[in-house]
Amino acid sequence: MSDLAVTIRLDGVAVEARAGESLLVAARRAGRGIPSLCFLEELPAIGACRLCLVEIQSGSRTGITTSCNVPVEAGMAVLTDSPEIRRHRALNLELLLLRAPEAPALRALARALKVTSRFSAPPVRGLANCILCERCTRMCDALGHRALAPAGRGEKKRIDTPFSRVSESCVGCGACTWACPTGAIFMERETVARFKARWGAERPCRYNLMGLLPGTVCENDYRCARCEVDRRMLRRAGGRHPALLSLRATEGKP
Ligand code: FES
Repeated sequence: MSDLAVTIRLDGVAVEARAGESLLVAARRAGRGIPSLCFLEELPAIGACRLCLVEIQSGSRTGITTSCNVPVEAGMAVLTDSPEIRRHRALNLELLLLRAPEAPALRALARALKVTSRFSAPPVRGLANCILCERCTRMCDALGHRALAPAGRGEKKRIDTPFSRVSESCVGCGACTWACPTGAIFMERETVARFKARWGAERPCRYNLMGLLPGTVCENDYRCARCEVDRRMLRRAGGRHPALLSLRATEGKP
């Protein structure tokens, strides 16, 4: 633990954490199995899915709240599990199930938390199974492409390309697909076809466009699943999406 170490109390137990880090990260490091869908450590937290609820009992922010977007403060006392937390979490999961009843991640969570949906689903606008967690748009923003964005408000809110037009800034990295927790976003065949048409014969490799392998040319007709370069980059990324390597490079991480 660094010299920024502070002590907080999780469920009555003293635990070391880093001042300012996400409370969810600190709680998970201490072994608390708090569920989450919209959080990714590399991205700014927005508290969208509201599954990571905890109860903060002391500090500058008290009450039941999301933990992913609350920074750790010295002396915080936090409950990570209680009947009240479970009740709120179950209700939030029910609401998410209305938007994404078929999403495997939600169904698994519903089974684990013994939640069944009591509501009937209204028609969902935009992508099927999208829970509007914005992991895709935050990922695309973080990588500097801004090819996706939330559009509309309230019931009409959806994920779209800017102005609902084909995104010229998309580099086909697929990080949005990887980040989506419900499988709502996938790479369409038209996207790949557009790529081929855009670049002509000298097609830059996707990792070239991501800034990870400058100068590399695609020799596999954008059939990345068959490509040794793709396999090498996947190994290098160690289970994360390779596009995140460019974030780590920006942040000076190894
Ligand atoms: S993980 Fe905290 S609100 Fe989604």
